[in-house]
Amino acid sequence: MKVRVLTGVTPSGTLHLGNYVGCIRPAVQKSNAEDTESFYFLSDYHALIKTIDDPDRIERSRIQIAATWLACGLDPQRVHFYRQSDLPEVLELNWILNCLTSKGLMNRAHAYKAKVESNERENQDPDNNVTMGLFCYPVLMAADILLFKANLIPVGRDQIQHIEMCRDIATRFNLLYGGGKEVLPLPEALIDETVSVLPGLDGRKMSKSYDNVIPLFEGGEKSLHDAIMKIVTDSKAPGEPKDPDSTSLTEIYNAFADESEKESFRKALKEGLSWGEAKEIVFKKINDEIGPMRKKYEEYMREPEVVERILREGAERIRPMAQELISMVRECVGLRSFKPLSAKKDQLKKKKAKSVLKQYREKEGLFYFKLLDSEGALLLTAGAISSGKETGALVKSFKEQGLSALEGVFLKLEEGVTEERVASALQELNAE
Ligand code: TRP
Repeated sequence: MKVRVLTGVTPSGTLHLGNYVGCIRPAVQKSNAEDTESFYFLSDYHALIKTIDDPDRIERSRIQIAATWLACGLDPQRVHFYRQSDLPEVLELNWILNCLTSKGLMNRAHAYKAKVESNERENQDPDNNVTMGLFCYPVLMAADILLFKANLIPVGRDQIQHIEMCRDIATRFNLLYGGGKEVLPLPEALIDETVSVLPGLDGRKMSKSYDNVIPLFEGGEKSLHDAIMKIVTDSKAPGEPKDPDSTSLTEIYNAFADESEKESFRKALKEGLSWGEAKEIVFKKINDEIGPMRKKYEEYMREPEVVERILREGAERIRPMAQELISMVRECVGLRSFKPLSAKKDQLKKKKAKSVLKQYREKEGLFYFKLLDSEGALLLTAGAISSGKETGALVKSFKEQGLSALEGVFLKLEEGVTEERVASALQELNAE
């Protein structure tokens, strides 16, 4: 099966050159890989968490961001490109996951904690401006991911914790309903170390919150030119030798130039190229790459119904997968169509083999025990204890505490057996 790569983009505001270099360009390139099935979506339910009081802003941002991705070459035939809010299954899964996610886990989320801390610093109620949406943000993200059993999640570092929370939530689901089997696969965060973080006009990371961005398409060629002219440099005069690393101009150029162009740019600056001329070179280089995309972007913006259709088709195409997952989940949690309960119980009894803990004595005289899962596969052997009574006590505490009870005694885990498999086999036993 192909590896499933999934990521969401929250439509809040417009995109800048840093988003293009750090996210869109590499994502579009990767989306063409043969061995992956990609899911890219607008996380517009997440956008409501940030902006609930400005519907026009949400509307504008959704279309702008969709048009940008398409204009930058995302192929909606190869990639599942859709809006989160076109799939009601996301919310159904979100609710069920809410019910098995402990509040304590959400209390630890960075974004929520930062909000509480800033409230406390300002002597406000800790819950000031904390909506349930913000608090449950990571659960909604887990629903996005688990709905399509995604394997790899390309995200920025700030999102790693959310992916870990998704793993925790999926693990809990699997323990409760899958007998420890991965009915919901655990996703992994994919952090691309090779992708550069583009500096902004002032040399700090390009970011709307620093007000140092170069717009990607908004405002057309003129805005791009104007912004590049504002990149901060020193005041060396034309003809004076310049340090190429004294300004973010060089790094911004490097994100678009090939090796020989990078070299000659540095050389020219050292030989006295004026900052004004240097900026024109940078403008031309960037505009050569994104100019044709901007044209497409403007076309899409003139025909929003085309974008609407693409996104709707994207959602319709994958909806059967989402529905299939939801029926599995509903079945798991007991939201099933009615059947006589007694018949169900008998059926369960017959079907449900249990895991086994077996104590025994080896020829050498020492006592051991082994744990087998419900299919009879050996998970572990432990013991090598001289007294049967002690072994019995150990088995008892192992049943209650799991692997941590076995410290200091002989223990052999079979190859590939994880702590989770052991835990779920024990859970089965304890449920007797
Ligand atoms: N929270 C992510 C962000 O703001 C966007 C997002 C929503 C997402 N759902 C997701 C990313 C699922 C990856 C997977 O960047």
